[in-house]
Amino acid sequence: MAEVAKVALVTGAAQRIGAVIARTLHYQGYRVLLHYRRSFACAEALAQELNAIRTDSCRLLQADLEQMDQVEQLAVEATNSFGRIDLLVNNASDFYPTPLESSDQQQWDSLINSNLRGAYFLCARLADQLKQHNGAVINLIDIHAQRALPGYPIYSIAKAGLQMMTLSLAKELAPEVRVNGVAPGPILWPEAAAAISPAEQQAILDKTLLGRAGTPEDIASAVAFLARAPFITGQVLAVDGGKSLYSH
Ligand SMILES: NC(=O)c1ccc[n+]([C@@H]2O[C@H](COP(=O)([O-])OP(=O)(O)OC[C@H]3O[C@@H](n4cnc5c(N)ncnc54)[C@H](OP(=O)(O)O)[C@@H]3O)[C@@H](O)[C@H]2O)c1
Repeated sequence: MAEVAKVALVTGAAQRIGAVIARTLHYQGYRVLLHYRRSFACAEALAQELNAIRTDSCRLLQADLEQMDQVEQLAVEATNSFGRIDLLVNNASDFYPTPLESSDQQQWDSLINSNLRGAYFLCARLADQLKQHNGAVINLIDIHAQRALPGYPIYSIAKAGLQMMTLSLAKELAPEVRVNGVAPGPILWPEAAAAISPAEQQAILDKTLLGRAGTPEDIASAVAFLARAPFITGQVLAVDGGKSLYSH
């Protein structure tokens, strides 16, 4: 009898790094649940692309992870969609500066909830499914979880929480489920208006050992590796061109 294809839920998967993670996992045989919040057109185009390769191998799920009821709903829909979950990739993330003195509770809620609370409760609600299938969780963290990004205190705090969540849930979900993280360095610059100037971009790249930005494929390869690394749990892999080691 043919082996049933595993199912991966990738959050924030409509575009950029999440879309490349989804494509990579799909290429490796996973059925993919593409979660998106607002980017419906991109999500739908990607789903069509993947379904053209294998019929009904990709489905869309919409949710704003800031809203707890939508997180709960997403977990239910994800479980019911293909009837199993083998891999959860917590990739969705809000990212914008929050200067300390002007920061407010709305910013706190959106950054903490999109980067940390949503990921935590998806793990909690999908834990039974993941255990049943000896599954895995992979969290997209950031090298700035360890060294705060100036001007981005709430984001840095959220990612530090996600890093500790990776270690903590590796203990909570062992031995059935492995939980790991990938901590990207500079990969894709933010698209927001507050985007970083070319000179600032170069200054950041100059502070990596490899002297260049990485690609979404570098991150997706690390995710795919951790997804099938049976003796690795509770680890965070920096994929940062040596930025976290740079010292001069
Ligand atoms: N880009 C980099 O160089 C870099 C560096 C370090 C770490 N990372 C981490 O790697 C991951 C991917 O990076 P990226 O730059 O590709 O991410 P991104 O484009 O900034 O965000 C990915 C997706 O997150 C979704 N999202 C944001 N807030 C949400 C919410 N409240 N509810 C649900 N979804 C929400 C958005 O979905 P919609 O578009 O559908 O609304 C967005 O497309 C992130 O976790 C990021 O923190 C990236």
